[in-house]
Amino acid sequence: MERKVIWVTGANGQLGAEIRTLSQRADIAPGETFFFTDKETLDITNAQAVADFIKNNQITVIINCAAYTAVDAAESDQDMAYQINQKAVATLARLAKENRLQLIHLSTDYVFDGTGFMPYRESDPTNPQGIYAHSKWSGEEEIRRIRPPGACIIRTSWVYSAEGKNFVQTMMRLGRKRERLSVVDDQIGTPTYTGDLAGAILQIVQQTLADDLPDTVETYHYSNEGVCSWYDFAKAIFELADISCEVDPIPSSAYPTPAKRPHFSVLNKRKIKENYGLEIPYWRDSLKHCLATL
Ligand SMILES: NC(=O)c1ccc[n+]([C@@H]2O[C@H](COP(=O)([O-])OP(=O)(O)OC[C@H]3O[C@@H](n4cnc5c(N)ncnc54)[C@H](OP(=O)(O)O)[C@@H]3O)[C@@H](O)[C@H]2O)c1
Repeated sequence: MERKVIWVTGANGQLGAEIRTLSQRADIAPGETFFFTDKETLDITNAQAVADFIKNNQITVIINCAAYTAVDAAESDQDMAYQINQKAVATLARLAKENRLQLIHLSTDYVFDGTGFMPYRESDPTNPQGIYAHSKWSGEEEIRRIRPPGACIIRTSWVYSAEGKNFVQTMMRLGRKRERLSVVDDQIGTPTYTGDLAGAILQIVQQTLADDLPDTVETYHYSNEGVCSWYDFAKAIFELADISCEVDPIPSSAYPTPAKRPHFSVLNKRKIKENYGLEIPYWRDSLKHCLATL
């Protein structure tokens, strides 16, 4: 069987940490060798260090979980957002092409402006709003321009995990302290549990033959199944975690943020499900599963 040497960047982040956990399970990643790095061990904006790392460790797959993800901070920290989300991604894409290794890169539902009303397909026109969204879209464009063989861009949305900074953790913390909370109900999307996304990524890696990579770059959409608002999400967290905090629905206009968010960013996942035979859990079931692990 083909042996893969997989490098996961951003390994201390939500998704990277989940891939690390899953990589230790023999049924999910049998016989693969993994390397995990984060900003302190290997800054992906350091092109020479990245090239040396790939060469010295004979990497065959890169899963790029590293990113500048502070959506609001990016508005006043533009240079850093583009360095990490565009320029470093171009470096990874160039090195992936030169060394014929597979690049799996994560992107965001925020590449869409949210004026649609049907789940977005991969081929739908993008129109990123805000610096974070635009820097992530620019990273995608670099991969499409450089065309490393077999590269996958996976757009995901509303990511949460049992650890790390995310909406579920914030709601749990605030819900235990307060009697009422206001949460926006006019942004509609789908949460994504890292346990499901990490499993899907490892399945994609396993199903790809590293010595027979196609000459194409594919974009995919992945989130959990179903649809909700942040208000619905908060209500479900409190219900499933048995927290008696009331939630009041408010419009986004009552909760202004530096970066504009799309009002609708539900992703159509048919392509990834059909191409890789994936079964995606319903968002409430995954939330329940995540809360049970806390
Ligand atoms: N979180 C979401 O809701 C969401 C939604 C849609 C798409 N996505 C995408 O999904 C992917 C994974 O997201 P996530 O939630 O796991 O993000 P995350 O928890 O913020 O993790 C990102 C990791 O990348 C690291 N990093 C930042 N700059 C780096 C650099 N120059 N070199 C190496 N590592 C660096 C960060 O370290 P520091 O923390 O030390 O900076 C962090 O550990 C990202 O591409 C993100 O854009 C996320």
